Amino acid sequence: MSTGAAVPFAQWQARLSAECLRLAQIRGAVALAETSSTQDAPETRAARPGTLVTAWRQTAGRGRFGRNWADTGTEGVAASFVVPAQPGERLALIGAVAAADACEVALGAGQRDAVGIKWPNDTVVDGRKLAGVLIERRGDVAVVGIGINVSQERFEGELSRRATSLAMLGARVDRIDVLAALMRALDAALTATDDDLVARFHARDALRGTRALFATPDGPVEGEVVSIDPMHGLMVRTDTGERFLPAASTSVAEWGGVRLRSR
Ligand code: BTN
Repeated sequence: MSTGAAVPFAQWQARLSAECLRLAQIRGAVALAETSSTQDAPETRAARPGTLVTAWRQTAGRGRFGRNWADTGTEGVAASFVVPAQPGERLALIGAVAAADACEVALGAGQRDAVGIKWPNDTVVDGRKLAGVLIERRGDVAVVGIGINVSQERFEGELSRRATSLAMLGARVDRIDVLAALMRALDAALTATDDDLVARFHARDALRGTRALFATPDGPVEGEVVSIDPMHGLMVRTDTGERFLPAASTSVAEWGGVRLRSR
């Protein structure tokens, strides 16, 4: 990946269009100069399946559960990809695997084994979040939104303990190169079988073997994650025994990222 002067926005569209020519699933890409959220841009709402929309500057990115995505001006990658509607668990896996693979490419050989996935689809390194995925269903299509922290040198407040960026991990990379890596990774993940996606999830699973607090319809559940089937749910060892938590109704409320035992 190039590390020289930043590729200007004027070159983004040509670069993205050239990338699309090499890909089977991503058939078009739109580069916006600025938008509040690539999920909500009119270009995304009007896009046909197979279209990726990105922005040089995203000003009010949205995360899961109505949270904000902490964009810092032009220091990250923000992309929304429109696909035909399909099961949310599969799309979550596609987003998770593609984001993690793209981060791994950006980080280079030295940190290959470091990139993990915190179920369902956060990309993490040493327990800190490097990328996030937001899946939204809209009638016949779904929008897979992916944000990657690229050139932030630090995060403020609460995020200073929980977030990281490619730059903070030592990778000085241009955002357009990270985007290109993400497009290639997404393209490959979209054609992978469920079994292949699950296997690739397990190879990066950062939650198994750690303690976490889960939000469930029956209230909070805390325990050690024994196993994860990303298509169905998690088995958690609590103080009162093992419990199965369905993927569809469970979310991670608190996680320190500390592995309790070697796997
Ligand atoms: C999360 O981890 O909570 C999901 C974060 C998703 C952020 C991306 S950035 C591109 C797209 N546009 C948005 O407003 N959100 C997603």
